[in-house]
Amino acid sequence: MTFRARHLLGIEPLHPTEITELLDTADRYAELNRQGRAPRDVLAGLTQINMFFENSTRTQASFEIAGKRLGADVMNMAMQASSVKKGETLIDTALTLNAMRPDLLVVRHPNSGAVDLLAQKVNCAVLNAGDGRHEHPTQALLDGLTIRRAKGRLHRLSIAICGDIAHSRVARSNIMLLGKMENRIRLIAPPTLMPSGVAEFGVELFDDMEEGLRDVDVVMMLRLQKERMDGGFIPSEREYFHRYGLDAAKLSHARPAAIVMHPGPMNRGVEIDGTIADDINRSVIQEQVEMGVAVRMAAMDLLARNARMGRDETGVMA
Ligand code: NCD
Repeated sequence: MTFRARHLLGIEPLHPTEITELLDTADRYAELNRQGRAPRDVLAGLTQINMFFENSTRTQASFEIAGKRLGADVMNMAMQASSVKKGETLIDTALTLNAMRPDLLVVRHPNSGAVDLLAQKVNCAVLNAGDGRHEHPTQALLDGLTIRRAKGRLHRLSIAICGDIAHSRVARSNIMLLGKMENRIRLIAPPTLMPSGVAEFGVELFDDMEEGLRDVDVVMMLRLQKERMDGGFIPSEREYFHRYGLDAAKLSHARPAAIVMHPGPMNRGVEIDGTIADDINRSVIQEQVEMGVAVRMAAMDLLARNARMGRDETGVMA
């Protein structure tokens, strides 16, 4: 079974072989990017529209670069300046854009489930660039690729995901992906930031960093998502850093070769010490950004191929 889907809405519906196909394709693009030899014809003649209803630096920039490297015509909708501000609904905006016949629609939205809903209304490929607390599939794929390249495999690793898990779509998508690839997942968070019911996913839960980090191969830190909190989740940022911020002392409990990850944007001195983030012997944060472009190239390449196959069979898009 290989990746035959029309959309990339989440990790949840993917089979491990589909994940592997996406990662293998992305790995090839990562090498081509390093050699400056990305093929410009893969998405030539296709229109990609990026609709970001929420702030983004890395994700939006890398989707734009990925599309341009493969030859797509890329348009970034300035959602702050769009008719959304005049009260147009998400679906009306989507239908309007759909009428312009894009091939790829990249959407980030603050509401969980909004991107799935939108995908039902349009007839082009939709890529979820993050919906509320739900999923952020390309982030989990780029994290998986970064781990696979650093550790030489993406199975039977012990991986700690630490911090604000309750509000994190990055954590959710990673729990799915790393679980499907048969890794041991540990979640470390204060009880207020640990989502209820998460133990069902076969993960181990900790509220203490030293215990949770013991002998792990990968330490994935998360940002405190203050924009999704309505107060009262943590006593203070100082106290939070003291108990849950990754510093050299806490990291010493992980395996000596453990890598440190963070999806960005980072709050230095809140969830991670700046010197750890900048330590090129431990931190793979810049590689994550690099793999982000390669993973988005792979996802759009495979979706465009699937759309072509759908059209070949029926004459119009399935
Ligand atoms: C994450 C996101 O937006 O979900 N960032 C990202 O895409 N690199 C995580 C975050 O905002 O903390």
